Amino acid sequence: MERKSEILCFEVSQEHPTIPKSEILAVTHGEIIEEYPGVLIVKVENPDYKRLQELGMCYRVSKILGSGDFHDICEISEEIPLSGSFRVRAVRKCEDISSSKVEREIGRRIKKKGLKVDLKNPDFEIRVILTDKCHLGIKLFECARKEIIKRKPHKMRFFHPGVMLPQFSRAIVNISEVKNGEKLLDPFCGTGGILYEAERIRMRTFGVDVQPKMIFGARKNILGELVIGDAKKLPFRDSSFHAVVSDFPYGRSSSLSDEQEKLYSEALWEIHRVLKDFRRAVIVTNRDIKELLPPLFRLEELHKHRVHKSLMRYFWVLRK
Ligand SMILES: C[S@@+](CC[C@H](N)C(=O)[O-])C[C@H]1O[C@@H](n2cnc3c(N)ncnc32)[C@H](O)[C@@H]1O
Repeated sequence: MERKSEILCFEVSQEHPTIPKSEILAVTHGEIIEEYPGVLIVKVENPDYKRLQELGMCYRVSKILGSGDFHDICEISEEIPLSGSFRVRAVRKCEDISSSKVEREIGRRIKKKGLKVDLKNPDFEIRVILTDKCHLGIKLFECARKEIIKRKPHKMRFFHPGVMLPQFSRAIVNISEVKNGEKLLDPFCGTGGILYEAERIRMRTFGVDVQPKMIFGARKNILGELVIGDAKKLPFRDSSFHAVVSDFPYGRSSSLSDEQEKLYSEALWEIHRVLKDFRRAVIVTNRDIKELLPPLFRLEELHKHRVHKSLMRYFWVLRK
């Protein structure tokens, strides 16, 4: 199959400085060309638009048609082979040029070709990203983020405090590199917040929780296979999952109790055992667990997120 590469612009949430980039790279395996707060320009081979629409930390994706100085993109705008109505939106990141001037000038040139301006509901939207260069793109789609963030955890059929926001759950499912129809396990599944996001993107979900009330409750939220059990002794065969994504139970004190250290350590070995070779586990904790990681895991990324004064979340991206 001929490989088709595209330069895509991802306009991302700034609620975390590194997770949106990690999510995009896990889904695209692309190459970063430019990076600004809120914007990533990435070269992607054979992009899968449907999967990109499912990013949790991205607002919208545009295809870059050309880059250069303002004069260059004005010329490129006259060559775009489109018909129907349009609007132009400029996103200013650091170029000294005013976005309204850019919108007016590019709009004027496209209009000259007989196209109609429609600011409310256009057939297509031209997006100009102004970094230290000017990038001219056409918007491909808005991502599902708006719907994802509407799913407040307390509005799920079954709720228990301590659930991560759905956009973070979606992002870490994507960071696990799980693909359509593959098996994803959460061995501390609680209400099923992570599994819920995985099901929305067609993964086969498996959850374990030691508390029966959590498993009975989670069954109201998700369709996957849910088992009452202990993460220290998972009821699954070796190498049976394509990904493990989990938010570990948090201890209250700032240091690990012996009991919690035993739980974390044994659960990590079990996760290692049930995960397929070369696949990823994404683990969320509220403390540093580097010393507990089984030696055969490679730590690929660590993202820290200060949720509030007394809660720092650590996102461990591990490869078996
Ligand atoms: C931070 S919560 C998980 C929250 C979850 N992501 C959600 O969406 O609700 C941790 C969960 O681990 C469970 N848990 C604690 N010890 C466990 C063990 N040994 N084995 C399995 N689950 C355990 C708790 O019952 C709790 O539901």
